[in-house]
Amino acid sequence: MNTSVADGRRPIALYVHWPFCSRICPYCDFNVVRDRGREAQKAKLAEAIRRDIEGHARLTGPRTLVSVFFGGGTPSLLDPAELAAILESARRAWTPSADLEVTLETNPADADHRRLEAFATAGVNRLSLGVQSLNDANLKALGRNHDAALARRAAQAAKAAMPRLSLDMIWGLPGQSASAWARDLEDAIALQPEHVSVYELTFEPGTPFDRARERGRIVPPSEDVRAELYDLTGALLSAAGFEAYEVSNHARGEAARSRHNLVYWRGGDYAGVGPGAHGRITRDRDRWAAQAPRGIDAYVEAVGRAGLGAVLERLEPRQAALERLLMGLRTDEGVALEELASLAIDESRFRDVRGLAERQNGRLIATPDGRRVLNALIAHLAR
Ligand SMILES: C[S@@+](CC[C@H](N)C(=O)[O-])C[C@H]1O[C@@H](n2cnc3c(N)ncnc32)[C@H](O)[C@@H]1O
Ligand code: SF4
Repeated sequence: MNTSVADGRRPIALYVHWPFCSRICPYCDFNVVRDRGREAQKAKLAEAIRRDIEGHARLTGPRTLVSVFFGGGTPSLLDPAELAAILESARRAWTPSADLEVTLETNPADADHRRLEAFATAGVNRLSLGVQSLNDANLKALGRNHDAALARRAAQAAKAAMPRLSLDMIWGLPGQSASAWARDLEDAIALQPEHVSVYELTFEPGTPFDRARERGRIVPPSEDVRAELYDLTGALLSAAGFEAYEVSNHARGEAARSRHNLVYWRGGDYAGVGPGAHGRITRDRDRWAAQAPRGIDAYVEAVGRAGLGAVLERLEPRQAALERLLMGLRTDEGVALEELASLAIDESRFRDVRGLAERQNGRLIATPDGRRVLNALIAHLAR
């Protein structure tokens, strides 16, 4: 992706958090609430998000807007006209690039052809569809509000309505064998997305899934099986022409990579609006972390009071460098060594991680073996 723009304005991406879901999945610990009976709150939130975008534009000054990502929660529950109004605020706040990427995270349950056409007309050009699995028993076990047939129909409707389609899939389900996962992933590939995000099921503290695991009612696959499923994922997707350009993300060619996520992984600037959203903004030479209140009412109130949802905190150079290490090593491009200067990584530590991370042309890049043990690798380098 182009992170420097011809007109000299620094690029910016925008993340919009829409926290409502029609049902809360038992494995999810995102900042979400059930949407039922919250019409007045939704209207207030949509208005606050638009004001917050204006507030962020005052903070950043003129920028080129390269991406807008509607995430959640389930932003596909937004009324398309409401989404168009938020997008319009973003287009007015900054100068949109000619190839502005606009992604909508979508639940298959609200992705019929008519709605997707309406989102495309509103300006969405990339759909990230939360399929998770194309096996009905898996979807039931995950507590999803759709079956495989609906997920397939949604993917087909997305292909007809949008230029770009990404599918989210989850592996590492209790009792999942390598052959079962291979079938599931091959079914997803057969839907011909240009991009696939493949996540290992994680047991997040406080979720019903985590409580069931603690009580022994859910048994995650053993470490050996998980290693097998991980390897299989890379092999199947690579055989189908996808590049593993990030730990969980696979794209068919450069143009299919998520420009929005590349901004995060490359240490670019992004504004985050909506409850709990966070951002990173560079002003002069300083890097600022921005964090909005997690509660919907608290967020609306903060925007009403200050014209900006986020609280800003300046990152110390070491913190900023650590973030670059964490983000950069996730991708196949790695991170520029000069961005890691404040970590003062000495030669012996680089030697210790040989085979896991290599220095090439002024960059540090995790090898495929290194990506498998990324947390330990980063902890060693940043000690
Ligand atoms: C905001 S959701 C996507 C849109 C929509 N809410 C949905 O679920 O269809 C983002 C993605 O996070 C992933 N996810 C959420 N919790 C997870 C967990 N505990 N383990 C693995 N993946 C998870 C799912 O793949 C999900 O599609
Ligand atoms: S996985 Fe998606 S639909 Fe399920 S609760 Fe989380 S954000 Fe909502």
